Amino acid sequence: MTRGAKMNAEAILDACRTIGGFSDDPDCITRTYLSPATRRVHEFLSAWMNRLGMESWIDAVGNLRGLRRCGLGDAPRLLLGSHIDTVPNSGAFDGVLGVVMALALVEELGDFGLDYDIEVIAFSEEEGVRFRIPFIGSRALTGEIDEALLRERDADGITLAEAIGGFGLKVSEIGEAAMSENTFAFVELHIEQGPVLEDLGLSLGVVEAIVGQSRYDLTFSGKANHAGTTPMRLRQDALTGAAEWILAAETVAAATPGLVATVGRVQATPGVANVIPGDARASLDIRHADDATRRAAVERLVAEAYEIAARRRLSLSVVRHFEQPATAMNSALASSLEAAAVASGTIPHWMVSGAGHDAVVIARKAPTAMLFLRSPGGISHHPDEAVLPEDAQAAFETGLYFLQHLNPAILAPKAPQSAAETIR
Ligand code: HGY
Ligand code: MN
Ligand code: MN
Repeated sequence: MTRGAKMNAEAILDACRTIGGFSDDPDCITRTYLSPATRRVHEFLSAWMNRLGMESWIDAVGNLRGLRRCGLGDAPRLLLGSHIDTVPNSGAFDGVLGVVMALALVEELGDFGLDYDIEVIAFSEEEGVRFRIPFIGSRALTGEIDEALLRERDADGITLAEAIGGFGLKVSEIGEAAMSENTFAFVELHIEQGPVLEDLGLSLGVVEAIVGQSRYDLTFSGKANHAGTTPMRLRQDALTGAAEWILAAETVAAATPGLVATVGRVQATPGVANVIPGDARASLDIRHADDATRRAAVERLVAEAYEIAARRRLSLSVVRHFEQPATAMNSALASSLEAAAVASGTIPHWMVSGAGHDAVVIARKAPTAMLFLRSPGGISHHPDEAVLPEDAQAAFETGLYFLQHLNPAILAPKAPQSAAETIR
């Protein structure tokens, strides 16, 4: 029955583009944690949830949540969803597609009888743009919002706790955002954000694992001085020291198979043309499917930073903001996604995700799996990010078949982890 589904791919992609219009920046798509644009997305999605007869609410960290009850009382619960925050000047599909697809599937199900509830979640913060720490939304579901995180400050000096209060939410209610005890699984549909599926000419991917990642800030400190009167040999230029280290990071990553290292943000102070930079802060985002390889690379890059700083008579501070281990997806659940794709006419590709996702956090508490859609041009975190209608249709039909045939009992912790039994 899955072909010719009522809700079609174009409507799904249009909804993502509509949400892309809710932005903090009139000239591009930028929606950071608990910004005014977030509230407009909440309004758009909760109106849709309510039209579908779902209970909807905003939890204490700003996740929008909608519940489709199956009518069987204290039923097992499947979580579906992704994030609605974006990087600056982003595309329209990173995160948002997973939320829109989930609601489109609930709409398509209509009153189709399931023996489990579906909770759709629009996570409020995944990218880590505002507080430099990602996954605030999904961490509330796993009980990982602690006092230290609540004290983190954004670029304006506002703490996370103040941001929550400022949005009209209550820090005291964060505990209530925890996922339901009845949760038996989480599935996230998401764009691949890379070139693999396009290179293979395939629509869909099933994620085996998500790479581990570390995020740091390194601050090189030298001596600000006059750009015109200070001879080169007498300088303690923080920015040239950082620059030498940034190239070293690129060299190490290029020489290590499967390793990626990115310095995405550099801030030089005082940041004017005629003053030698006294300080230079560089971010580091480093990832690998194998945690030992990633950690060894971090050690090596930090050692290189200290060596460069010493040679240039600079001081150095190294702050780790975040580390996340590589995370395997639940094999039975992932295989059931594969079986649903095949039953719907699409052969998916098993792959590792180089991007981080809320799925990494939720996987700490519930069986979790991800379905990827091809990223044309391998582009993401960029306005050229796109989704092909035929891939959206393939994902939609896969999702519909998956929901209609999912057997929650088999995913209970004690149950056998065989894929065959997860699809009725
Ligand atoms: O950075 C990431 O991996 C994800 O897109 N937030
Ligand atoms: Mn992203
Ligand atoms: Mn994402």
